Amino acid sequence: MISQKSVQEILERARIEDIVEDFVNLQRRGVNYIGLCPFHNEKTPSFTVSPSKNICKCFGCGKGGDPVQFLREKEDLSFPDALRYIAKKYGIQIEEKELSQEAIIEKQLFDSLYLVNEYGKDFYQKELFETTRGKSVGLSYFKGRGFREATIKKFGLGYAPNAKDLLTASAVAAGYNIELLRKVRLTNKYDGDFFRDRVMFTIHNLAGKVIAFAGRTLQKNSKTAKYINSPESEIYIKNKVLYGANFAKKSIRELDECILVEGYTDVISLHQAGIENVVASSGTSLTVGQINLVKRYTPNIKILYDGDAAGVKAALRGLDLVLEQDMNVKVCLLPDGEDPDSYMQKVGLTAFKEYMEKEGKDFILFKTNLLLAEVADDPVKKTALIKDIVQSISKIPDAIKRSMYVKQCAQIMDIPAELLTAESTKEIEKVAKKKAQKAYFDRKKQQEGFSAGNNAPFPSSAAPYAGGFPEEAPFPGMDPGAPFDGGQPFPEVGMPGAAPKSVAGDEFQEKDIIRILIGFGTQIFENDVTVTEYILNNIKDFIDKFDNPFYLSILEELKNNHQLDTDYFLNHKDEQIKKIALSAITSPYQYSEAWEKKYEQPLNTQEMPDNNFLKDSIDAVRKLLIKKIDKILLEIQGKLKDLDQEKDWSKIMKLLKRDQKFKAIRNELAAQSNTVILK
Ligand code: CTP
Ligand code: MN
Repeated sequence: MISQKSVQEILERARIEDIVEDFVNLQRRGVNYIGLCPFHNEKTPSFTVSPSKNICKCFGCGKGGDPVQFLREKEDLSFPDALRYIAKKYGIQIEEKELSQEAIIEKQLFDSLYLVNEYGKDFYQKELFETTRGKSVGLSYFKGRGFREATIKKFGLGYAPNAKDLLTASAVAAGYNIELLRKVRLTNKYDGDFFRDRVMFTIHNLAGKVIAFAGRTLQKNSKTAKYINSPESEIYIKNKVLYGANFAKKSIRELDECILVEGYTDVISLHQAGIENVVASSGTSLTVGQINLVKRYTPNIKILYDGDAAGVKAALRGLDLVLEQDMNVKVCLLPDGEDPDSYMQKVGLTAFKEYMEKEGKDFILFKTNLLLAEVADDPVKKTALIKDIVQSISKIPDAIKRSMYVKQCAQIMDIPAELLTAESTKEIEKVAKKKAQKAYFDRKKQQEGFSAGNNAPFPSSAAPYAGGFPEEAPFPGMDPGAPFDGGQPFPEVGMPGAAPKSVAGDEFQEKDIIRILIGFGTQIFENDVTVTEYILNNIKDFIDKFDNPFYLSILEELKNNHQLDTDYFLNHKDEQIKKIALSAITSPYQYSEAWEKKYEQPLNTQEMPDNNFLKDSIDAVRKLLIKKIDKILLEIQGKLKDLDQEKDWSKIMKLLKRDQKFKAIRNELAAQSNTVILK
């Protein structure tokens, strides 16, 4: 590690004009220098170097920076390597600080794994070029595919002999540790060779170190896999590797575009023909790690799809991931039955380039057109298409780009742009909400005392009573600690008596609470409390008064885990609960009329249920409490009648007090929700 002192010294000494001069012919222009940009092709110079600011910048492509940034971009150097470059140039002695013990061990392990793999690559190449079978089977296969010898050498192609342990034995004899050979899986767990009788492709990391292999079978119609790949290891993390990236990075930067293909052979063919800015995802769908790798070099990616790929549509779905990373994505469909390799071998470089130029389509527009072709006049399909496109568009972080796409796609689909704008705004809000929720729960989890399985129902900071309600509180002036006489909240009063019709029907209120919990439970109240937490905390003394056993079990589950969301309940193991969840999320206006008629109870859900969960929750809690308190009041009445006959005055007085108290709470709640007040 370079010491801080050396870093400082190097940074102070580095002059931008000296560094750039190594790569660019500079002409003086006033106080600045100017030259042809080393990052893009240009005929008139727009690359400007400012000695006074010690920076450079291209006014054509925007690249540039201070001396270190320039070197990192231009020569693809790591930060320390850029420093070393400068130090060498100025003859500065670098003071290296020692690495930590762990760092040393890790570095040593990595280096030794690279070395073992390097041995493997040499071995396979020797087998290919120097053995009879290697030459007759492997080399002739590659040559038959049109790969020249220089290409074969450059890409480290080879041949793995059909032998039990030839590689393993010779590596061990050469002094390589078998443990390491196993680690990179050149050697299998029976101490035999992992790859046998296959032509070999070497996989490098960005720095050009050998990190893995892929072996292609030469058997036609054989039952074994066409390709076998090294399993992941300390040095090979698949979702961060793109095949060919080490050979392509320079060209990707220069051309400001990365071409993505599927196969190893596609990369090699294109590269050999002169298209060098090409990498392969190795047959899998792109990962964020791979996209970020490309993004270090360019924001522009062009994906070539085989013409007959049935999965093009499915593949398009995966591309939203690329949009999310703020990349510009183009797709290009090859003619039927061709992959990039075969098409290049067939038509040659010029025609291939022309084809890519002509057929390379902007991803979102391509997708819109492709899907629109299937929609015809089916309005249901068209709605689905709009949703699909909106989803893609809303993934784009850049607002200007988004609005451009909205306009173009609306035109293609022949719908008003305003509609698409509204839809995409909604989608963006939805995603933002989801993100906020996730952040909220992550934060909660970190705070001590809260975990999914934890039974402590309310962290104090999240208790609505403690934090105060948003806007309106259902229980103004109530003592949060002791809501009902401090003692047991609901003494068994027994004697339910014949409840009047209006009181008995609280199925609706229970259902409404459950509907909100399932539909919006994980949404966040303004004061950092989720809907679930808000509701549970407010009805906690009434939960055992729920009549419906399924609702009860939902409440119990939620009590133990506030994070259970719509998806969870929709996939619940209990069929009945699944059904309840489904009906909970179907728009309330679908059953509103029936509900209102049956229960003479206007629905408290209005126009946009999605945006009303806050008001809904407060309202639903109030209404439930009113109903439940009504029930309790009835019970008290019954009990009073009995006591009246017994003439037990002290008990009567006590119950009357309780009756008054409940009535007061009830009426306060009723006043807030415009329900009939009891006298
Ligand atoms: N692949 C794989 N394992 C398989 C099949 C495919 O890892 N069993 C990956 C390889 O990276 C391969 C890519 O998917 O390069 C594309 O597969 P395919 O088009 O079948 O192979 P090609 O690379 O075109 O090979 P070839 O031209 O030799 O058929
Ligand atoms: Mn192929």
